[in-house]
Amino acid sequence: MASVSTIRPATAADLDAIAAAERVCFPDPWSREALGELLGASGTTALVATTAAAGTVVGYLIARAVLDEAEILNVVVLPGARRAGLGGQLIGRGLEALVQLGARAIFLEVRESNRVARDLYERHGFRPIGVRAAYYRSPVEDAIGYRWESSPASKR
Ligand SMILES: CC(C)(COP(=O)(O)OP(=O)(O)OC[C@H]1O[C@@H](n2cnc3c(N)ncnc32)[C@H](O)[C@@H]1OP(=O)(O)O)[C@@H](O)C(=O)NCCC(=O)NCCS
Repeated sequence: MASVSTIRPATAADLDAIAAAERVCFPDPWSREALGELLGASGTTALVATTAAAGTVVGYLIARAVLDEAEILNVVVLPGARRAGLGGQLIGRGLEALVQLGARAIFLEVRESNRVARDLYERHGFRPIGVRAAYYRSPVEDAIGYRWESSPASKR
């Protein structure tokens, strides 16, 4: 199990590691070009989790915010670093960062069969809001849409 030093904002230097992790974790990974454009876009929030020993990227979260809404596009932890709380930490830190930027409602979509991710999102306060039929390819599968809303106490 990887020991983790930090979760920090992603930089352009993390692009290769993020693109490699996409290919390991998804049958339909985002291309390096698409990820590069996303990381460089205004409104994008990207975090990486790194190992203490070598500073190697073992996980990341990518989200984008527009006005008071945001969308989490991807949360990934490499297989060897899973079950250590990293996915939860990335989501927690991502929510904090997006709320800081003014997000009041945060959306995401996840494969219907991805019970691990769905449980994790639900534990962080995301609630299912609908189904998009056959949204994913390789293999074709429905997406479950989720919404998170900032509580009145956290509204500024
Ligand atoms: C979803 C994902 C990010 C979770 O990362 P993680 O670092 O393992 O998450 P955590 O360690 O915070 O796990 C949280 C909880 O999820 C559950 N969980 C995690 N991995 C699990 C597994 N393989 N089997 C069953 N439950 C699991 C557990 O309840 C765990 O809590 P616990 O082990 O403390 O009881 C990771 O599995 C992943 O990268 N999956 C592939 C990419 C993906 O599907 N991303 C989401 C869609 S964008």
